[in-house]
Amino acid sequence: MIDRERAYAKINLALHVRRRRNDGYHELETVFAFCTDGDDVSVESAGGLSLTIDGPFAKGLSCTDNLVVRAARSLDDNRGATLRLTKNLPVAAGIGGGSADAAATLRLLSRTWVIDADLHAIAAALGSDVPACLSSIAARGEGRGELLDLLDPGELSGIPVLLVNPNIPLATAGVFAAWDGVDRGALSDWRSGRNDLEAPARLLVPEIGALLDWLAKLPGATLARMSGSGATCFALFDSMTSRDTARHATAERFPTYWSLASSLR
Ligand code: C5P
Repeated sequence: MIDRERAYAKINLALHVRRRRNDGYHELETVFAFCTDGDDVSVESAGGLSLTIDGPFAKGLSCTDNLVVRAARSLDDNRGATLRLTKNLPVAAGIGGGSADAAATLRLLSRTWVIDADLHAIAAALGSDVPACLSSIAARGEGRGELLDLLDPGELSGIPVLLVNPNIPLATAGVFAAWDGVDRGALSDWRSGRNDLEAPARLLVPEIGALLDWLAKLPGATLARMSGSGATCFALFDSMTSRDTARHATAERFPTYWSLASSLR
């Protein structure tokens, strides 16, 4: 029997960086939201643990040194499973990718293997965004992102969203390292918030600036911002029609860029 889980794409509606900690991580205030689309992880029971990867962004990924395998191993070091990851989301893109894959694996294998463990703690050890991806429900995050307060999903569910990435991978650690260290204040309402990693990400990928200007001016766009450490930027729309029109216009304006028309879940 095959069982599967979606690894929902994550966006940060706002992300305030407050300070660098002694352990090298940064203290954040963020609002996580999730798209209905993402990668897919499936499992078939089998003797040993194996992973195969397919999908548009499979190229270059390791089937052994992978967060999916690490997630499986941190759940149970001995049990086997035949795992398949369909990689629909770009890698090193600020939309959860590997974190969502790891979280989906934890949900999937804790069910398959009937394991009653503290999944939140296991998730936090795998990465800062993995606990948020575990529930994949809109949440306010603090600490390094692992301290979560779930939000009423009714506020966001169904909002049309367009994700656009210039097809330039951007490593999270490098963007945090380029943050200027200035605390620009607490996050209250995400709409009036900001992404403090946008400025350092733009230093590394200048394309982000023109992309955000473009997204903000699209008819029907209610908010345009960068997600996480970038380089993916997103816009929220007032209707599916304006989102789909925006996707076509964006593909014409930036023909080499990746885009995904989705909705918040
Ligand atoms: O937790 P994760 O392994 O996903 O983080 C990747 C890198 O991003 C960390 O090694 C760190 O350099 C940076 N990071 C950070 N502050 C956070 C989250 C991540 O500095 N809150």
